[in-house]
Amino acid sequence: MTLNIAVLISGRGSNLQSIIDNVESGYIPNACISVVISDKKDSYGLERAMNHGINAVFIDPAAYEPKEHFENALLDVLAKFSTDVLLLAGFMRILGSNVIKAYSNRIMNIHPALLPSFKGLHAQKQALDYGVKIAGCTVHFVDEGMDSGPIILQKSVPVLDSDTEDSLSERILAQEHIIFPEAVKLFAEGRLDVKGRRVHIL
Ligand code: GRF
Repeated sequence: MTLNIAVLISGRGSNLQSIIDNVESGYIPNACISVVISDKKDSYGLERAMNHGINAVFIDPAAYEPKEHFENALLDVLAKFSTDVLLLAGFMRILGSNVIKAYSNRIMNIHPALLPSFKGLHAQKQALDYGVKIAGCTVHFVDEGMDSGPIILQKSVPVLDSDTEDSLSERILAQEHIIFPEAVKLFAEGRLDVKGRRVHIL
C-alpha cells in the first residue's frame, strides 16, 4: 500500500522540497505526494510541486468565506486525493476542528522553535529576543490548539552572540529539513505510537 501524502503550504516551500526529495530517494518508503495545496496563489512551493509532476492546487481563501467554507473545500481536495497524512509545511493558517477531527493524529506540522517555547509567528525572533542560548525546531502532530499537539521529533541548535534573525533562522531551517522527513518516514513505517501527549517511536 502506498501512503498518500498531502502537503499544505503558504510560501517558498523549502520544507516541501525536502519531503519531495526524500520521497523520491526512497528514504520515506512506500509513499507518494499526491497533492500540494496552497492558500497563496503565487507560492513558490506550487511551482516546486509542478516541477516534480505533483498535483498543485490553489484554494483561494477569499473565494471561500467564512473559514469553514475554506476548510470544506480543503477536505474535498484531501478526499479527492485519498489523503492518508497531511503535512503542514509553512502553512500560515490555523486549521479548524472539522479538519483536525477528520485527520486525527494524521496531521504533522514543522515549527521553528523548541516547543512549547515560542509558539506562533516569528518564533526565531522570539527566541533571539528572549535571549535563549539553545534554539531549534519541532515536528508535532496537530491538535486544535496553536503549535500545541504531541511532539514527534525535536532538534536543537546553538544561538550565537553574532546571530541575527536571518542567521538563526537559516541554522534552524537546515535542521527542519532533516527532522520533518525523518518524522514522515517514521509515520510511513508505522512506528509512531501516540499515547496522550507522548509519542513513542517503535
Ligand atoms: C519554516 O521555518 C517552518 O518551520 C515554518 O514556516 C517556514 C516555512 O518555510 N512553519 P518553507 O516554506 O518550508 O521554506
